[in-house]
Amino acid sequence: MSKVQSPKSSVENLLLNVPANDKHRDVGLWTLDLGLSVTDLRKSFSSPAGERLEVLQGVSFAADGGEAVAIVGASGAGKSTLLHLIGGLEDADHGRIVLGSFEVDRASPATLAKFRRKHIGLVFQFHHLLSDLNAAENVALPLMIARTGRREAMTQAVQSLGSLALGSRVAHPVGHLSGGEQQRVAVCRALITQPSLVLADEPTGNLDASFAEEIGETLVAYARSRGAIVLLATHNERLAQLCDRILVLKEGRLHESGRV
Ligand SMILES: Nc1ncnc2c1ncn2[C@@H]1O[C@H](COP(=O)(O)OP(=O)(O)OP(=O)(O)O)[C@@H](O)[C@H]1O
Ligand SMILES: [Mg+2]
Repeated sequence: MSKVQSPKSSVENLLLNVPANDKHRDVGLWTLDLGLSVTDLRKSFSSPAGERLEVLQGVSFAADGGEAVAIVGASGAGKSTLLHLIGGLEDADHGRIVLGSFEVDRASPATLAKFRRKHIGLVFQFHHLLSDLNAAENVALPLMIARTGRREAMTQAVQSLGSLALGSRVAHPVGHLSGGEQQRVAVCRALITQPSLVLADEPTGNLDASFAEEIGETLVAYARSRGAIVLLATHNERLAQLCDRILVLKEGRLHESGRV
């Protein structure tokens, strides 16, 4: 009796379609002992009335390569703020952020920008795609910035989009895509350079349940297969449950789920 092979899941396809990139070999070695360490992170904002809003009041945690970690908490708890600090998009008031041997909190803006382009994949809550570009161009852009030729970058981008059921949308301007489609484009864009750290901020907010689960599985599978760290801020309970650990942000501090 012949064995019927099930078609590869789109998650597998996405991972298989992203070839190891020679230019990033140094990153591959570096990820072997990749770890993220966040210590006593504090961040406050001032309100228009001049009051201090203490959002992060001493956040500490560590994550290892290969781990997908969910960060949950009420709206306004500081999840996006935490991801922005870890990605070096905003400065902390106090505390340490070290990724591998790179000191995010001590790097100059120029070094940080270079490091981020090479090592960090960002999926924003409001995905920030470039509306003048089509879907494939948006996904290909980080590769082209990293000096991959346009033809090769576009080929990888089209494959990646196809893996998340967007094969028929590659040439669409992103402004013509639905919210959920745009979110899937943003996930493809974040993974296309094979980053060591993926910061995903509510990556499934506009997606229906099946696509949300698929995006979650994609990110978790990415972490495991690449030895990368995925930090995923979400309100989606099912998505959080797919991750290896759940951290709860509450009253300015992070707690391991179950110990709140
Ligand atoms: N630049 C800023 N200036 C002033 N306040 C800010 C600023 N950025 C964030 N905040 C405030 O900090 C708090 C945390 O915001 P943040 O966006 O991190 O929350 P969140 O947990 O991501 O919420 P959500 O689940 O709604 O996305 C909120 O009360 C927000 O209003
Ligand atoms: Mg947020």
